[in-house]
Amino acid sequence: MRAVTIAAERCVEVIDVPDPRLLGPDGAIIAVEATGICGSDLHLYHGALPPGGLHPGHEVVGTIVEVGPDVRERMVGDRVLVSAVVGCGRCRACRHGDPITCPNGGPVAFGTTGQIDGGQAEYLSVPAADLFTMTVPEGISVESAVLLTDILPTGFLGAQMAAIEPGDTVAIFGMGPVGIMALAAVQLYGPSRILAVDMVPERLARAEAMGAEPIDATGGLGAVAVLEATQGAGVNAAIEAVGLRETVTDAISSVAARGRISMVGVNIEMDFPFPMASAFFKALSFRAAFAAIPSTWANLVPLVSSGVLDLGDVVTHHLGLSEAPEAYERFDRRDDGVFKILLDPSR
Ligand SMILES: NC(=O)c1ccc[n+]([C@@H]2O[C@H](COP(=O)([O-])OP(=O)(O)OC[C@H]3O[C@@H](n4cnc5c(N)ncnc54)[C@H](O)[C@@H]3O)[C@@H](O)[C@H]2O)c1
Ligand SMILES: [Zn+2]
Ligand SMILES: [Zn+2]
Repeated sequence: MRAVTIAAERCVEVIDVPDPRLLGPDGAIIAVEATGICGSDLHLYHGALPPGGLHPGHEVVGTIVEVGPDVRERMVGDRVLVSAVVGCGRCRACRHGDPITCPNGGPVAFGTTGQIDGGQAEYLSVPAADLFTMTVPEGISVESAVLLTDILPTGFLGAQMAAIEPGDTVAIFGMGPVGIMALAAVQLYGPSRILAVDMVPERLARAEAMGAEPIDATGGLGAVAVLEATQGAGVNAAIEAVGLRETVTDAISSVAARGRISMVGVNIEMDFPFPMASAFFKALSFRAAFAAIPSTWANLVPLVSSGVLDLGDVVTHHLGLSEAPEAYERFDRRDDGVFKILLDPSR
């Protein structure tokens, strides 16, 4: 089959690889219909790769073409969406839709560490298919189905961890696809103001069209601008959806006393000085996590199908899998209005 590979920094190719095999008797093979490129893939594109590179892709919708003998609730021909993150499939956490706290090898995201191949390919092998796939519900578009595999649960987690009270002022750092999902989710909790921070004009305009106040972070001045917009008071909660050291610090310095900081951006440095004095003397709460994706579907599917959660036109480009090198380049450049790109493996 054809699969995308990131062999080295900024080196994306589409190559022929052997078809994937079942990952155990509870696994399934999916023929991929659509697969997204995520901001997390950009970390790989920028060089955060295991030796030898990897096959990326953790946002997959497709049709089951093979199931192992222990799969009970799915069958060949089912059209499914796949959780970006999986676990062992046997422990209590996995069985409750929370592979993030799986104690048996921890959470694994497809195509991010080299442990398990990703789905920017013609086929994807999924372990514990009963737990980590969901039949695409009636009335859910392919675009929304892809969003449910990763970034919508992530944005929702961003809002949940921010513990927003009605009337709160909330800042969101990063108006990429994840930040926009967080913006949609934050609106479920009745904030009085949402300050949307980024420096890409089209992204700020998109946030403004969804009811947020655009805050230009050009020059690294996002936190300063948030403080100005709140007359120095700061916000009640800040969501970080970028993944940079600077924006973690920005989120911390933009909240008022007893503020909550919710981190969904993946900070690949994973280790840097923490502004302990601010956290301590302002009595802040700081939460960071990956989304426990399957556990969010019961909440999110009705919100998406009813239209209560308005996702806007997040998917801006449908390209062929063979165009993956160009797709990565364009998503990384963030110009020409590029937002969410889906790849179609039939092309
Ligand atoms: N926790 C999870 O489960 C999870 C899941 C998916 C993605 N992520 C992470 O979320 C982050 C965002 O993903 P995405 O797909 O939206 O990526 P993206 O790269 O498209 O978006 C990042 C946005 O941040 C903006 N930005 C950069 N520097 C900034 C600054 N100083 N101030 C304000 N904004 C700034 C960029 O202009 C861009 O619009 C990534 O780190 C990704 O790894 C986490
Ligand atoms: Zn992702
Ligand atoms: Zn487990």
